[in-house]
Amino acid sequence: MPISATQVGIVGAGPAGLMLSHLLHLSGISSIVLEARSRAYCEERVRAGVLEHTSVEMLRDAGVGERLDREGLRHGGIELGVDGVRHRIPFVELTGKCVTVYGQQEVVKDLIARRNADGGDLRFECGDVSLHAFDSSKPSITVETDGAVDEIRCDFIAGCDGFHGISRSAFPAGVLTCYEKSYPFAWLGILAEAPPSREELLYMHHRRGFALYSMRSPRITRLYLQCRPDEDINEWSDDRIWSELQTRLACQDGWRPAEGRILQKGVTGMRSFVVEPLQYGRLFLAGDAAHIVPPTGAKGMNLAFADVHHLAAAFEAFYRRNDDSKLSAYSQTCLGRIWKAQRFSWWMTALLHRFEEETAFDHKRQIAELDYVANSRAAATSLAENYVGLPLDA
Ligand code: FAD
Ligand code: PHB
Repeated sequence: MPISATQVGIVGAGPAGLMLSHLLHLSGISSIVLEARSRAYCEERVRAGVLEHTSVEMLRDAGVGERLDREGLRHGGIELGVDGVRHRIPFVELTGKCVTVYGQQEVVKDLIARRNADGGDLRFECGDVSLHAFDSSKPSITVETDGAVDEIRCDFIAGCDGFHGISRSAFPAGVLTCYEKSYPFAWLGILAEAPPSREELLYMHHRRGFALYSMRSPRITRLYLQCRPDEDINEWSDDRIWSELQTRLACQDGWRPAEGRILQKGVTGMRSFVVEPLQYGRLFLAGDAAHIVPPTGAKGMNLAFADVHHLAAAFEAFYRRNDDSKLSAYSQTCLGRIWKAQRFSWWMTALLHRFEEETAFDHKRQIAELDYVANSRAAATSLAENYVGLPLDA
């Protein structure tokens, strides 16, 4: 059995695992990243697209913001629409900060390239990964591929393997408490070869259901439609998708989304989920392995970065100063901000979607709230400061 040794064994090469590995490298701490999928798969997977101000600063400070600064689209606000009438929420005016539109797969490409350039140990297409002895001071990870087993001996394990990974389920029974909420709808998302015809994202409340106009680059738009959770994507021809998008996003001033060839389409479920605590012994969870938000607040990837910022700082304190207080406090340090992002994502979702069982009262209340957010500086500032990202120690 081939044996490797490292300080931190990391499961998962998504934004959380890759950024953690890079931050540890900057602090002189070794790690090995174990990823189930191929490098190409990780680099092509289309997911989140909005980076908080806080995440952009983190990527820049870590020396991986060069392409992001060159190609990322800086947005000083978003627009909220109600049945064709738009209201702008001016982030820069309200908070002094903006967000950056830059695809998650671009962040992943940049981090993989940087880890490889720095001689990092990233292992793709790993077989069955199992975690061992993390309640002792000598944890290990085994990877079984085609009957051959590799062992990685480490001081700590970071479970950055997303919602469906194995790290969370490796916690002993009874340790974790799960907090969960599901929603009676999903998003049908497309990537289209069409230059963005708006400067900023448009979140539209519509009587046929929510729609979002977003983008990825000067050539590519990203659009979403609220749909049923069990929606069959095969029932949605390209024509049907465009027709529904045109209906929901059409604005009273005559603006319509520009159409183009659909490059990709899919249905994404909506869920709010948190486990507590994020640590057991020498096993730590970060990112989607520990929490999921509905995408309406654009928080998923950003929360993953916030977690690994704290985790890397805690490992640094341990290895540099023999101080384990930050490791012990990791759960508490992260959970305050995680719950604030959960609240915000839930609130944006409740504000903008149609709910099957809503009463006429619910509907009127929702429209009044949208009107309040659009027209009250205090309410708009609350949305803006959450959207651009709360401070990392919030
Ligand atoms: P992930 O990116 O999920 O990375 C985890 C990695 O671990 C993956 O590469 C996975 O292959 C690997 N892995 C899993 N199991 C194992 C194992 N047993 N062994 C080894 N490796 C393993 N957020 C938004 O803000 N907007 C969006 O539009 C949006 N769309 C999304 C669409 C989908 C389909 C999904 C699943 C998520 C979406 N998100 C979106 C959320 C956002 O992409 C995540 O919050 C973000 O990817 C979290 O990063 P992560 O590194 O924690 O997890
Ligand atoms: C995206 O561009 O994919 C996107 C933007 C904003 C969201 C969710 C997804 O709230």
